[in-house]
Amino acid sequence: MGKQFKRTLITTALPYANGPVHIGHLAGVYVPADIYARYLRLKGEEVLLIGGSDEHGVPITIRAKKEGVTPQDIVDRFHAIIKQSFADFGITFDVYSRTTSETHRQVASDFFRKLYDKGEFIEQTSEQYYDEEAKQFLADRYITGTCPHCHNEGAYGDQCEACGTSLNATDLINPKSAISGSVPVMKETKHWYLPLDKYEPFLRQWILEGHKEWKSNVYGQCKSWMDMGLQPRAVSRDLDWGIPVPVEGAEGKVLYVWFDAPIGYISNTKELLPDTWETWWKDPETKLLHFIGKDNIVFHCIVFPTMLKAEGTFNLPENVPANEFLNLEGDKISTSRNWAVWLHEYLEEFPGKQDVLRYVLTANAPETKDNDFTWRDFQARNNNELVAILGNFVNRALVLTSKYFDGKVPAAGELTEYDKETLIEFADVKADVERLLDTFHFRDAQKEAMNLARIGNKYLADTEPWKLAKTDMERVATILNISLQITANLAIAFEPFLPFSMQKLNEMLCVEPLGWDRLGQTNLLAAGHQLATPELLFEKIEDSVIEAQIQKLLDTKKSNEEASYRANPVRENIEYDDFTKLDIRVGTVLECAKVPKADKLLQFLIDDGLEKRTIISGIAQHYKPEELVGKQVCFIANLAPRKLRGIVSEGMILSAENADGSLAVIMPQKEVKPGSEVK
Ligand code: 2FM
Ligand code: ZN
Repeated sequence: MGKQFKRTLITTALPYANGPVHIGHLAGVYVPADIYARYLRLKGEEVLLIGGSDEHGVPITIRAKKEGVTPQDIVDRFHAIIKQSFADFGITFDVYSRTTSETHRQVASDFFRKLYDKGEFIEQTSEQYYDEEAKQFLADRYITGTCPHCHNEGAYGDQCEACGTSLNATDLINPKSAISGSVPVMKETKHWYLPLDKYEPFLRQWILEGHKEWKSNVYGQCKSWMDMGLQPRAVSRDLDWGIPVPVEGAEGKVLYVWFDAPIGYISNTKELLPDTWETWWKDPETKLLHFIGKDNIVFHCIVFPTMLKAEGTFNLPENVPANEFLNLEGDKISTSRNWAVWLHEYLEEFPGKQDVLRYVLTANAPETKDNDFTWRDFQARNNNELVAILGNFVNRALVLTSKYFDGKVPAAGELTEYDKETLIEFADVKADVERLLDTFHFRDAQKEAMNLARIGNKYLADTEPWKLAKTDMERVATILNISLQITANLAIAFEPFLPFSMQKLNEMLCVEPLGWDRLGQTNLLAAGHQLATPELLFEKIEDSVIEAQIQKLLDTKKSNEEASYRANPVRENIEYDDFTKLDIRVGTVLECAKVPKADKLLQFLIDDGLEKRTIISGIAQHYKPEELVGKQVCFIANLAPRKLRGIVSEGMILSAENADGSLAVIMPQKEVKPGSEVK
């Protein structure tokens, strides 16, 4: 038996306020958190659902600069849009605030200051790029230059978007400041570091020994981080957007966005409950849960708990039920490529259909692995499940009652064996759904609720009350009574998942929400209770509507491809002699393996016709090594050798790049002798 708690504090990742929110956000974090919060509230438990916008960080300053506005303008705009989207989708936050609030500035400063005063930070000086014209240190994203791997000239200081390699700003060839265009210089700067290494023994014990019940994707990531060895992590930055480091001599420095953002959970609780917030954060009888996506695992399982532990008076999370990612029609969701279904646009195009999206995202939630959202699946789940199973059953029960009994719940007569079996079957639903929700298995829990509607449909199809109406009204009354009891049960079971539709159903049943405790009972509606006029809960979505959505995505893809072509136009003409300087040849791949600790790189051993040569290539995200062994590839044979991760690379393998960044290695269409020239 696990520890007993009195109340539950649920936090949801604070989305960056530099763009609107999309289906990936909803599926990964907010719908599951909302289902869970609604479920606990229905059970009468004390619960808070905390949300807010993450309004600091470099991407916000970059967007502001691009648009010629202030960072505050950007976050004001998107905070409002995001907050509205969540409200529209029925995410029942008790508070949705923001990290530019005054309360947050105060709470985050105090938190830093407490760790500082306790001597928890290490102060360290390091050299970083500085723009002498703009008189400021440069965040990695503010430095551009040539990628050392693929020679793309527009690589950023943290990543080359052409070859996908993650970089350090100091790796760039010919670095330039994105602010002034000048060449940055190295300059010393002091920062504060959280010594994660010092807390490693504690973290190992707490997570690896104490929380073996965490989801395997979460537990596995924590373990692999710790097995790689934890390092001190800087919690301040040289930037003019953020919360000033509250220490003398720290002018021009702000708290690192990942230091202040999780403290936002605390600030937002305090903003909501200025007098009692500490009960929610410090009383050991409060259970703390963080709902997040997989890219946030390390911050919520390692960094933030270390901060809380170092502070000393806060609870640690009891669980972190992180989800994997949702893709869209086979491709990664991307804000910059506009490859997303934006929540505000969905609502314009599917007004009133919030529950359909909630349902589909839960049915297809990326709980254990990345999943794909497709418009065809959306349509199928709406038409074949919401309409054909849930909506159809409820509608038949209500319409038949209206037709034969003027909408009054008829009294049940004597029960047949089949009636009794049906009642027994649905009595189990409560325990099943609870077990699944308690362990964060939302998709299976929703499936169980849908099974209840399946039971109802089968019962009506088997008993065919419409055929008995002329001969045996007493039997019809019993069948409809049982069907209406199932309907009332559905209104409870689906309440956490489909709140808008269940409100409508409660209105048709003329009841207040019935309360979770009563789920599974067979006497929810008394004989003689008057029902309202039935209406359809869900409606079919036609092919043309879905095709329009698919076309919209195809248009996006096309315009992305055109934009990428425009951004990468054919370069100026060269003379034939220039071309002949390039020695391109075909080689046969003898061996291929991943380069340790570099997720993008593959190491090749190539038969070049004369000897064996080693080439490093940044294509590990696009090919498994074994796919390439034995294949012939084209490579530049006379590129001066370069050292990459300590290995000398003698050439460059040629690939073609799609607009979405995916790569295809160039191979001769017929086998040729290794060493053959490409002309
Ligand atoms: O990944 C993100 O979108 C972050 N803004 C999440 C922050 S979660 C918490 F720490 F606030
Ligand atoms: Zn590159």
